[in-house]
Amino acid sequence: KHILLLGAPGAGKGTQSKRLADEFDLEHVTTGDALRANKDMDIGHMDFEYDTPREYMDAGELVPDDVVNEIVKTALQNADGYVLDGYPRNLDQAQYLSEITDLDAVVYLDVDEDELVRRLTGRRLDPDTGDIYHTEFDMPDDEEIRGRLVQRDDDTEETVRERLNVYHENTSPVVEHYRDRGVLVEVDGEQTPDEVFEDVADVVEDA
Ligand code: AP5
Ligand code: ZN
Repeated sequence: KHILLLGAPGAGKGTQSKRLADEFDLEHVTTGDALRANKDMDIGHMDFEYDTPREYMDAGELVPDDVVNEIVKTALQNADGYVLDGYPRNLDQAQYLSEITDLDAVVYLDVDEDELVRRLTGRRLDPDTGDIYHTEFDMPDDEEIRGRLVQRDDDTEETVRERLNVYHENTSPVVEHYRDRGVLVEVDGEQTPDEVFEDVADVVEDA
């Protein structure tokens, strides 16, 4: 199955994608994680503003399409079924995606802006496993895991604000694009993670 998960920064794309990948035996294809794993690769180019993904990400801006399209193309070539998270983020990327693959379902996680900020500023990650936690909503019981949790570089208040601006400007039109085509399934992303998963899994099962 080819599943696309859309949502603002902090909507829960990563949290739900991981569970979907496990439950339905799908590849979790995420441009954010891929770029973080290659933060310092040299993408210097005459037309580009910065030389590395890190600089774009720390500023809350989009990494250039050429770089991201290439990552997605390679990842999708190597995936049978997948859940795509963090891409497409603008209409050009959506156009590119439509040229390289077909989608079986497009799910949009709907979450209010205040809640997004709360989630992003409280997020913690386990650097060993990639598991996603939250200081208020979801902390691990294991003290050893709690001790090694880290915050993402772009989860500072200033960068979060910029990421939300970029989302409204560039990525909201992508949501509308799929809505206009009648393929968007909206899920209330403000429920508990388990409840959100139930709703998303229903869509994936029927896809
Ligand atoms: P990316 O890594 O994709 O970040 P994002 O889209 O901003 O989304 P997040 O990962 O912040 O949020 P999420 O929806 O995955 O939420 P999560 O599950 O973690 O991109 C980062 C950067 O990379 C971009 O800014 C850009 O620079 C670059 N980039 C990436 N893709 C690109 C592209 N295609 N083109 C160009 N540039 C690109 O959950 C968030 C928190 O909420 C966690 O703490 C979690 O525990 C908690 N939580 C989750 N669900 C719930 C719930 N139901 N109730 C309570 N808390 C919850
Ligand atoms: Zn994510």
